[in-house]
Amino acid sequence: MAQEDVFKKIVSHCKEYGFVFPSSDIYDGLGAVYDYGQNGVELKNNIKQYWWKSMVLLHENIVGLDSAIFMHPTVWKASGHVDAFNDPLIDNRDSKKRYRADVLIEDQIAKYDEKIDKEVAKARKRFGDSFDEAQYRATSPRVLETIAKRDALHERYAQAMNDMNLEELKQIILDEEIACPISGTRNWTDVRQFNLMFKTEVGSTADGASTIYLRPETAQGIFVNYLNVQKTGRMKLPFGIAQIGKAFRNEIVARQFIFRMREFEQMEMQFFVKPGTELDWFKKWKQTRLAWHQALGFGNENYRFHDHEKLAHYANAASDIEFRMPFGFKEVEGIHSRTNFDLSQHAKYSGRKIEYFDPETNERYTPYVIETSIGVDRMFLSVMCHSYCEEQLPNGDSRVVLRLPAALAPTKLAIMPLVRKDGLPECARKIMDDLKFHFNCAYDEKDSIGKRYRRQDAVGTPFCITVDHDTLTDGCVTLRDRDTMEQTRVPVADLCSLLEDKVSITSLLKKL
Ligand code: GAP
Repeated sequence: MAQEDVFKKIVSHCKEYGFVFPSSDIYDGLGAVYDYGQNGVELKNNIKQYWWKSMVLLHENIVGLDSAIFMHPTVWKASGHVDAFNDPLIDNRDSKKRYRADVLIEDQIAKYDEKIDKEVAKARKRFGDSFDEAQYRATSPRVLETIAKRDALHERYAQAMNDMNLEELKQIILDEEIACPISGTRNWTDVRQFNLMFKTEVGSTADGASTIYLRPETAQGIFVNYLNVQKTGRMKLPFGIAQIGKAFRNEIVARQFIFRMREFEQMEMQFFVKPGTELDWFKKWKQTRLAWHQALGFGNENYRFHDHEKLAHYANAASDIEFRMPFGFKEVEGIHSRTNFDLSQHAKYSGRKIEYFDPETNERYTPYVIETSIGVDRMFLSVMCHSYCEEQLPNGDSRVVLRLPAALAPTKLAIMPLVRKDGLPECARKIMDDLKFHFNCAYDEKDSIGKRYRRQDAVGTPFCITVDHDTLTDGCVTLRDRDTMEQTRVPVADLCSLLEDKVSITSLLKKL
């Protein structure tokens, strides 16, 4: 199946099974805003717990924070967001559609990559077992020509973005003959900057209302609380502050479902370190964060680092963790070495001394910061994309199964009486009443057992237990594994400890 079709199926599966709904669905939705349904909210909460515990529980020197979404407007002046949090936009005069110039060019670069991959696939078919891919990529004139074109474009684009040279971005679009996907024409306007922050007003106009912003990242809430936390927590460098919360960006090109939203959630951690040690910490956090992703078992080959060529003026290193989505490798998380830029800017604009007194060297300095920043929604999407599976069964049936990591699954255990009589529902209810204090359980007695298994497979429930007539005498149930569909007989008394090992967030954390 084409990857595009797979993605469409994932999107409709999300809606059909209560994971993600378009916002204000009965009014036909609101662009790039989504709601999480009864299963989605559980999965999302589990992702957040996995992240939060990996940061705050497993690191003695990382503490949490929950700062407000509204902040003093000067915060955004100091951080540079008022002046520079812009996207370069371009309009097509015929379709009247607006695009991000950088996205149009990045898509063009991806097209060169696709062309190369197609050439390689064709050659593999032609040469069969004797095919040496590395040699083919290094010697095929057609592949080499496309690589040269791609690299030249990439270099030109990186330079234009670095200089924020809007004329050059437009020229690249014209030179590459990039056409509007809707009208098919190349009738482009000039490229303009567009600020992504949402504005609103606090206070009534008569009182002299002031413009404030919905935060476009949670990080600034951490920076402005650095002194509060460091002092009240008597924190010693290096230490971190972790926060999960909503962020808002007026994304013009909102695409790919929950990949790019206008209201989304971030999990960010700012790690404050002694100046001069930041690049070592940057390397450590890159590895720590990659290990967090890999512990989910989605296959190491599905992750890669993308080191930034274009660094923000305040950063001295930056890298993304990309995950292989059905629409290519895409950024899920950013790890940034932000120097002392943010703290220094807030010191300058607030007039406060924002420093650290180092008791070991008796020096005062402004700490440097390593930031890890991951989008909850993008993480959610990567989990769904990797877990969605359509399977042909040996008996000729097929099933859709969400192979979610058990620790993230919305429901851990479905409890089913084989029939709705003979005391089986009562027995099943009793088991549920004991286990519901330990795991998220579902009770299901409707339809055939086969249909009930399929329903649970589709929402990713890792285990089902069936209560049958023997249960009443031998105290055992049939435990069915979602992935292998194997069934084993297990004493009810053992269920809790048996499952705890397999489905708890702790089991995942222990892999780190
Ligand atoms: N504080 C740094 C920061 O905000 P970013 O690269 O702009 O950096 C970090 O965002 C992460 O937030 C991204 O890697 C992505 O997972 C998520 N993110 C950013 N914009 C998003 C959007 N419009 N929709 C969903 N997730 C988004």
